[in-house]
Amino acid sequence: MQARNIMEDIVKKYLDEMLALRFDICTCELCRQDVIAYALSRLPAKYVTTDSGAIQTIMQQIRVDQSSLVLKELVAAITVIGKEPRHEEGQDRNQAYKLLMQQIKADRGADFSQYRDKVLKRRIALRMRARNANSYSEYLQVLIHSSEEYEKLFEVLTINVSSFFRDAAVWDKLRTEILPELIARKKQLKGSMRKIRIWSAGCSHGEEPYSLAIMLYELLEKEEVEINVEIVATDIDKVCLAKGKAGRYDQISVKDLNPHYLRRFFIPIKDEFQIVPHVQAFVTFKELNLIHDQGVMGVDMVICRNVFIYFNRSLQEYLIMKFHGTLGQDGFFVMGNSESLLGEARQVFDVVDSSLRIYKKLILAD
Ligand SMILES: C[S@@+](CC[C@H](N)C(=O)[O-])C[C@H]1O[C@@H](n2cnc3c(N)ncnc32)[C@H](O)[C@@H]1O
Repeated sequence: MQARNIMEDIVKKYLDEMLALRFDICTCELCRQDVIAYALSRLPAKYVTTDSGAIQTIMQQIRVDQSSLVLKELVAAITVIGKEPRHEEGQDRNQAYKLLMQQIKADRGADFSQYRDKVLKRRIALRMRARNANSYSEYLQVLIHSSEEYEKLFEVLTINVSSFFRDAAVWDKLRTEILPELIARKKQLKGSMRKIRIWSAGCSHGEEPYSLAIMLYELLEKEEVEINVEIVATDIDKVCLAKGKAGRYDQISVKDLNPHYLRRFFIPIKDEFQIVPHVQAFVTFKELNLIHDQGVMGVDMVICRNVFIYFNRSLQEYLIMKFHGTLGQDGFFVMGNSESLLGEARQVFDVVDSSLRIYKKLILAD
């Protein structure tokens, strides 16, 4: 009578499900076998004779009883084997990934070489799954034949999540201290100098620059003198910019918006909400690649939030210094909550509020 280790069947089944979600590690046959062997060496064997009539039921029962243990050991096995596969295939995979990125650069001029690989691979995996591509080279073929897929890929690579008044504490500080300080400074000036200029870098669909525009509109209407506003909103993603320019948002986008702002600054049109023209007029949208293009010069504030997280450290340092160069005297720099000043930049910015990531440009002594 033959006995079979049912645990092996269960592990194989789980492994297939888990690897379907992993494009960041090698999933070749040899690595699969290594993962299975590693996991089985840490799991109790469950032998059942193959002529046992109830094999399916027994298997199901073991699967239910042992599932959390199997999953735990499989995750450990994938991590261990995925880190150091015992063959050269990992390199082939990296090669294919590099080729894919080079092709994207050659075809579309988009250079993601200084983005974090881990983030990119996770994002690309989403599109690969959607197109049933099992390898980078297979996905490359899909891309070559579909310009539509390129658009979708950019959408996930540039990760455009945003919202109005994202991170309320930062906006409170802007409303109560930073923007009033800018207004007070401008009031001292005359004529065309009486203008607040802000650069929203990585503006996504415009939620961030419009939040600023709304706030400035309410602050400025209380003033007796006229102060102009120009918010230059830039992004690498054309689709996002077009949406921002249109200024029309669906119900989900405005669901957390303060009802006062929604009533006052948005016009309902069917199921959507259109930003009012007098606030829209404060904002100009422009395509700009932060890495290669010249920045927006002579601004009073740069707000660049939740963009750096995708860039490697040296690119982050380079960009912070670039922003420093674009800011006028005493200009403010606002970063995202999980981002921070790095390297040389720590010497050239004063901290206004470290937890809110708000800084002020320091004038360097000659
Ligand atoms: C997560 S969104 C941040 C939106 C907004 N700043 C916020 O915090 O809600 C990141 C934006 O950075 C843009 N981005 C990514 N790489 C860029 C680059 N090299 N140049 C300009 N924009 C870039 C993306 O297209 C995306 O719209």
